[in-house]
Amino acid sequence: MTRVFSGIQPSGDLHLGNYLGALRRFVDDQHEHDSVFCIVDLHALTLPHDAAALPGKTLEAAAMYLAAGLDPEVCTLFVQSQVHEHAELAWLMECNAAYGELSRMTQFKDKSARGEFVSAGLFTYPALMAADILLYDTDRVPVGDDQRQHLEFARDVAERFNSRFGPTFVVPEAAIPTVAARVMDLQNPTNKMSKSVSSPQGTVLMLDAPKDIEKKIKRAVTDTDNEVRFDIEAKPGVSNLLGVLSAATGEPPEKLAERYDQYGPLKADTAAAVIELLRPVQERYAELIADEAELRRILAAGADKAQAIASVTMARARSAVGLLPR
Ligand code: TYM
Repeated sequence: MTRVFSGIQPSGDLHLGNYLGALRRFVDDQHEHDSVFCIVDLHALTLPHDAAALPGKTLEAAAMYLAAGLDPEVCTLFVQSQVHEHAELAWLMECNAAYGELSRMTQFKDKSARGEFVSAGLFTYPALMAADILLYDTDRVPVGDDQRQHLEFARDVAERFNSRFGPTFVVPEAAIPTVAARVMDLQNPTNKMSKSVSSPQGTVLMLDAPKDIEKKIKRAVTDTDNEVRFDIEAKPGVSNLLGVLSAATGEPPEKLAERYDQYGPLKADTAAAVIELLRPVQERYAELIADEAELRRILAAGADKAQAIASVTMARARSAVGLLPR
C-alpha cells in the first residue's frame, strides 16, 4: 500500500490555504493509502515563537486535523517532537545536504529577509522536513505548491544518501493539487495566504465567524475592469476567488468564470461556499478542543504508532552511515 506523509506547523492559526492546499486532501488520502500526519512543532521553533502558547497551538492543530475529518483509527496522527527520531535523522540529512542547495531555498530567503534573528534552524529547516518524510518510507507527500522546492530537496538528499551509503530511503513524490494549490492573500493576491505574514483582512482563518469570512471575501482586492476571467497572471485577485470557489464546488475555474459578468456575485457566491465548507469543520472543532485529555490520548497513541515505523528506518540509516551500535 502506498505510504502518504504530510505535516502542518502549529505556528499560527490554520487558514483556508492550509485547508484547501493540504488538510482537506489528507481526509481522502487516509482511506486510500497508509497515511501518517504530523504536527511539526520542531519546525515552529525556527522562527521566534511564544513558548507558553506552543502547547496550546499544538493541541489546536490536532483538533483541527480531527475536525477536518481525520480518523485516528484509520490514519496515524502525532506530534513531531514526541518521536525523537525526527531530530536524530535531521542531523544525518544536514550532513548530506549541500550548503549551496539550502541557500537557494526561496522560503529561507523570504523568511530570513523578514526576520531580525535568522536562526541556523531556519536555514536547515528543509533537512528536518526531509527527515520527517524519509523516516516513514513515504511514497507520496500531499502539500501545497509552496512546498514544491522543499520536496525536490528531500528527493535529492534521499537519492544522494542512497548513492553514497546504499539503498536506505524511499524517494518520495510530491502530490500538489490542481486547484487551490496556492491560495493567495485576499488583500494582496500576488502573495500566498500565510500564517507567518500578518495580513488579517487577507487571510480567511479556519475558525473565522461566517460574517468575518463574508466581509473578507467581499472586500477582496480585484481590479477595475469588472471582467470575470481565469487568468492568474493578468487577473490574480479574480483568479484567486475562482480557484477558491472551484475548490469548494468541484467545478473547474474556467467554467465557473463563464457564469459571472461582475465581481459582486462572484464574491457573494465564493463567500457563501466557503462558509458552508467550513461550517461542519468549525462545529466539530468546538467539541474536540473542549476535551484536552482525549486529544492528548489520541496524540500519544499516534506517537507510538509513528515511532514503531520511524525507529526501524532510523536504525537502517544509522547503520548505513557507520554509527557504532551501543
Ligand atoms: P505549513 O504549515 O506552512 O503549511 C501546511 C500545508 O498547507 C499548505 N499551504 C497552502 N496551500 C495552498 N495555499 C496556501 N496559501 C498555503 N499555505 C500553506 C502547505 O503547502 C502545506 O502543505 N514545511 C511545511 C511543514 C512540513 C511538512 C513536512 C510538510 C514539515 N515537514 C513533511 C510535508 C511533509 C510547512 O511549513 O507547511
